[in-house]
Amino acid sequence: MSKRISVLILAVMLLCLSACSGSDKAAAQMLAGEQLAKKNCKACHGQGINGAPIIGNKKMWGPRIAKGREALVMNAFNGYGLMPAKGGNENITKEEIDLVVGYFLSELEAQ
Ligand code: HEC
Repeated sequence: MSKRISVLILAVMLLCLSACSGSDKAAAQMLAGEQLAKKNCKACHGQGINGAPIIGNKKMWGPRIAKGREALVMNAFNGYGLMPAKGGNENITKEEIDLVVGYFLSELEAQ
């Protein structure tokens, strides 16, 4: 496990210790997803490079969401069209991609 990830997990655990009650596990996961997205995905998904669906843009995500979270995670993990496998970061795990997709989906609900 890379140091970066360990630090991230520690941060999430600390956040949980200090602020958690019930549904805050979800909030901690969301935060982890957001941090991972910032590092690995926002370069393209922040502004739609090569047609990447922009974070929070319902119109762009609509037809993709219909595939279901599992399929989105698999496509992000394996690569899909102009989307490079794992966003080009060999070290990212499927669990981490799942956290990012969870964050993407929550950004769509928020608006
Ligand atoms: C180099 C640019 C780039 C990076 C970095 C990138 N993406 Fe993408 N992503 C794309 C593009 C372009 C598409 C649209 C692909 C298509 O439909 O042909 C896409 C599509 C997707 C989709 C939709 C797949 C589907 O089934 O419709 C998901 C989910 C996704 N990206 C997740 C991620 C995650 C998670 C990361 C970070 C780990 C990431 N992407 C990093 C460019 C990128």
